[in-house]
Amino acid sequence: MTLHQIPNTIKTDSFWMPFTANRQFKKAPRLFSSAEGMHYTTVDGRKVIDGSAGLWCVNAGHGRKQIAAAVERQLMTLDFAPSFQMGHPLAFDFAERLAEIAPKGLDRIFFTNSGSESVDTALKIALAYHRANGQASRTRLIGRERGYHGVGFGGTSVGGMVANRRAFATLLPGVDHIRHTHDLTRNAFAKDQPEHGAELADDLERLVALHGAETIAAVIVEPVPGSTAVLPPPKGYLQRLREICDKHGILLIFDEVITGFGRLGTPFAANFFGVTPDMMTTAKGITNGTIPCGAVFAHRKVHDAMMIGPENVMELFHGYTYSAHPTACAAGIATLDIYKDEGLLTRGASIAEYWRDALHSLKGLPNVIDIRNCGLMGAVELSPRDGAVGARGYDVMVDCFNRGLYFRMSGDSFALSPPLIVEKSHIDDIVSILGDAIKRVA
Ligand SMILES: Cc1ncc(COP(=O)(O)O)c(C=O)c1O
Repeated sequence: MTLHQIPNTIKTDSFWMPFTANRQFKKAPRLFSSAEGMHYTTVDGRKVIDGSAGLWCVNAGHGRKQIAAAVERQLMTLDFAPSFQMGHPLAFDFAERLAEIAPKGLDRIFFTNSGSESVDTALKIALAYHRANGQASRTRLIGRERGYHGVGFGGTSVGGMVANRRAFATLLPGVDHIRHTHDLTRNAFAKDQPEHGAELADDLERLVALHGAETIAAVIVEPVPGSTAVLPPPKGYLQRLREICDKHGILLIFDEVITGFGRLGTPFAANFFGVTPDMMTTAKGITNGTIPCGAVFAHRKVHDAMMIGPENVMELFHGYTYSAHPTACAAGIATLDIYKDEGLLTRGASIAEYWRDALHSLKGLPNVIDIRNCGLMGAVELSPRDGAVGARGYDVMVDCFNRGLYFRMSGDSFALSPPLIVEKSHIDDIVSILGDAIKRVA
């Protein structure tokens, strides 16, 4: 019996786990029972440092009582209110608060319940926007190889992680992808943004030439792809993408589900890179991962272009029962209060250098072929075992878990993104446990 196994008291058959090797997991479950600050506690009572802010979402750390109290209060006051042709004040307050921290112009907020819903919402808004603008031929959606945009049909279609698409042969038609920017030959072990690869943005010109700009509605990219294990954009790349979109009247959508809410040491990646998209998709950190919630930040020009037609007719036939759910709004406002009071939306900037140097100290360990960092995101990539992609990564991940570190793995890469309250001593712990595991598993 390994450390993380529990006595066989929990029946594991019924829960069909998401994005999990169910049969492997259920033979030796890894189970958390509580969490506080930077740490989880496992069911067998061990403390495990959270190297991935849950799933990139617990930005203010675990167990924030202020959020719990706000949610409890809200449930006892107004448990649910519809947002279809009705409303409740908190939804408007929350939208105003989000607009206050948004990049300039992106201050029209459409609420969803998840990153996947935010992505599909933004893609649909892009289509509807062009139609409202008299350009109904713009129906093509462009994603990027290695991109992850959630699991709706829209997000899966524009996504570019092969395993996420392969089993679902029928995706949206009229979708294409630009090339990814992962280039170990030129950029391995680059610190912060890699030097090489701005020209890869020109791949969009290739698709414009192939399909015609008049058929393209939008391009969606993660400013720093996360799920494919943290690929900071080459210097100048996002600026170039913006220019090409402008030149051809294509909307640019940043999927900031991970990068939003302080991950890079700025409120959003758009601030960090100095590039303003036409829409941003967000979720996760919007409520510190407590209550499901997401939001699309739309530029006023996108929103205003759709405020047409008779005033008694809905402008956008889209929304979710739980859009602007009162508890999500309460959790979100409490989260924004914490971010503001503790300066968490910019705290990453002051610790990013320490984070970078600590991660890069792992260079030279067995099988390490790349280390990447950007803000408080980071990744270590190992070479795969012959014929067994992901096996070495899995062994390292389990070893770390047994010795007190949790993080998200992607194949043979480890994606790290600690809560933004992380201290230098936590970073030391993360890097030391990971380094030891890499050596042990080698
Ligand atoms: C960039 C990005 N977009 C969308 C999503 C999907 O979010 P959710 O799992 O909340 O649907 C994720 C989740 O990791 C993500 O990283």
